[in-house]
Order: sequence, then C-alpha cells, then structure tokens
Amino acid sequence: MKRKKNRTTGRKLFVVTAAALLAMTMASMLSGCGNQAAVDIQTESSDGLISVAFSEVGAESDWRVANSESMRTTFTEENGYEFYFEDAKGKQENQITTLRNYILQGVDYIVLAPVVETGWDEVLQEAKDAGIPVIVVDRMVDVEEEDLYTAWVGSDFKEEGDIAVEWLEEYLEEQGRADEEIQILHVMGTLGASSQLGRTEGLEEGVAVHDNWEIVAQLQGEYTQAKTYEVVSEYLAGSTDIDVIYCENDNSALGVIQALDEAGISYGTDGDVILISFDATTVGLTACLKGKINLDVECNPLHGPRVEQIILQIEAGETPQKLTYVDETYFTPDTLTEELIEERGY
Ligand code: AHR
Repeated sequence: MKRKKNRTTGRKLFVVTAAALLAMTMASMLSGCGNQAAVDIQTESSDGLISVAFSEVGAESDWRVANSESMRTTFTEENGYEFYFEDAKGKQENQITTLRNYILQGVDYIVLAPVVETGWDEVLQEAKDAGIPVIVVDRMVDVEEEDLYTAWVGSDFKEEGDIAVEWLEEYLEEQGRADEEIQILHVMGTLGASSQLGRTEGLEEGVAVHDNWEIVAQLQGEYTQAKTYEVVSEYLAGSTDIDVIYCENDNSALGVIQALDEAGISYGTDGDVILISFDATTVGLTACLKGKINLDVECNPLHGPRVEQIILQIEAGETPQKLTYVDETYFTPDTLTEELIEERGY
C-alpha cells in the first residue's frame, strides 16, 4: 500500500474550482477585486488522489459481490481516488487487523462494512485518534460513543422485516388462510449482523401479534446457499410440517429451493410452502419471476456513490448526515418482468 498522497483530487479540484470561480466572479462583481479564499483554494495541487480504504465483509452472497463492485467502480483513479480493498472472509478479527493497517498507512478515509455490530469501540477510537474519518456502510456498528464514526449509510433492516410480515398477513388473508395455524421455518443470516438482527426482529414481532403463527425452528444459514442447503436439508429430514420459510437473503433462498426440491416439497406461488426472501438480486428476482419465491424484499447494495457523496461533503468542509437510510421496495411474481430484472444489473 502506498502512503497517502496530497488530499486534493482532480474531482475535488473540479468541485472547489467551480465554487472558487463563482466566489471570484461574485467578489469581482461586488468590489471589482479578487477573492483571497478562492485564490488560496486554486493554488492547491491538482494531481493528488483521495485514498479510500474499504474493509468488506466477504463474498458470501450476490448482494455482497454487487456491493464490492459498486465501491470499486466508484472509487477509481479516474474519479480521483486511490482505492484499497480487503475482503475479511466473514471474520471480524480480519477487519480489525485491516483497519489497523489502514490507520498505520494514514489513508484519508476508512470505509467499513462491518460483519457484526459489536466489538468496534477500540479500533474506531484508534482511527479517531489518528484523525481518519470512518464511514460505516450497510450493517451498523453498536458503539459507546457515536462520534467514533463519521457517518453511516445502509438499509433499514427492521423495516425490511416489517414489510415481509405485512405482506404475509395480506397474502394469507387473500388466500382465506388468515385464521389457520401457520408454521414458519426461519433461516437466519450471520448472527449479530444488523441485517440479521433487524429482519429477525421484524419476524419475531409479527409472530408475537399473531396467535396462530409459530416459528418452528430458527436455523443458521449464514447468508450462503451451501450452509442453508445443509441446515434446511437436515431439518426437513426430521419434519416437513412447514407453511412458510422466511429466509434472510437470496442466496439462502437458493439453498432452501435446492433442499425443498430434493425433499420433493412444493413451494412458491403454486406450491405448499410460501417462500420469503430478501435482497432482490438477479438470482432472487429470477426465482421470484418464475414463482419459486413468493416475496423478495429489496436490500440495495449500490452504496459506492452514496459513500462518495459523504466523502465529497467532508472534503467540502460540510458535516454529512449521521445516518442515511436507503429507500427500498419489494417484489412479487406479478410485479416483475425480465426487463426490470435486467435494468437493475446485479
Ligand atoms: O447486510 C446485508 C446482507 O448481507 C444481505 O442481505 C446479504 O445478502 C449480505 O450478505
């Protein structure tokens, strides 16, 4: 990794120069002479890059791959950045080591997509002491002092869970099954990740207010197709009495589909089991369009431009909003088309 360069970038220079030009024009209109601040800004170096160092969770899902790609295509040299990327392979200890390396290198910005919420106070304090702003993306960090990170951008995972519960309520009503006993198999994501915590909370709250809904088991699918296939197959070998599978991401849903197919259990719009998923990536939406997944709640991974927006605000001397929630929707087979899936591009 190279030492950080001069922090004025081509992009920043463009932004600042436009502002400076405006300031100079206004100043000369008002007083007929130059503006010192604008002149100072314009004398900064124009060939430096902003170093942005990203610690990514891993490559456990299609969502994650799209997220990494969004960062890579945003923080290019062409756009004025020097980009560092480390895949933590799903381990928080790897992320802590990576962050310490980034701090030692003196990068301009650290971007952290945390595996889990807790256990960040110490290393974030080290980044703060080194004067490096940390932007948290996707999952949250749960820290004692809010100022240990500069800003966060991501999804409202609890809201995603609420959307799924509300949809299920209406769907059962439409099917005339509102008063039936509903057995729910819950496949959880990585334990302790905000996305798991929020989606789980949404489901558990929904079950708590429906006397006829029951969670028959909570399995750990770890957001991967392979792990989910393994745990669901094992479960189905003992019991097949299930009405709904609430699966916390698309790759897990593929593992569920694989296990159900092998067990000879029908699912989706024409089957016995209602399948709910999260993410709305191409793989999930394609299965949804075919009627294999009944509901796919969106979790948008395209955070690169959103993180860049925060960095540009800081570079411009502004204070970014502390928490930014991304607007999201949901998809069902009747609202999907091939064109819509293609347009999304991930
Ligand atoms: O934190 C977002 C979740 O992490 C996505 O739902 C999942 O696919 C990813 O691995």
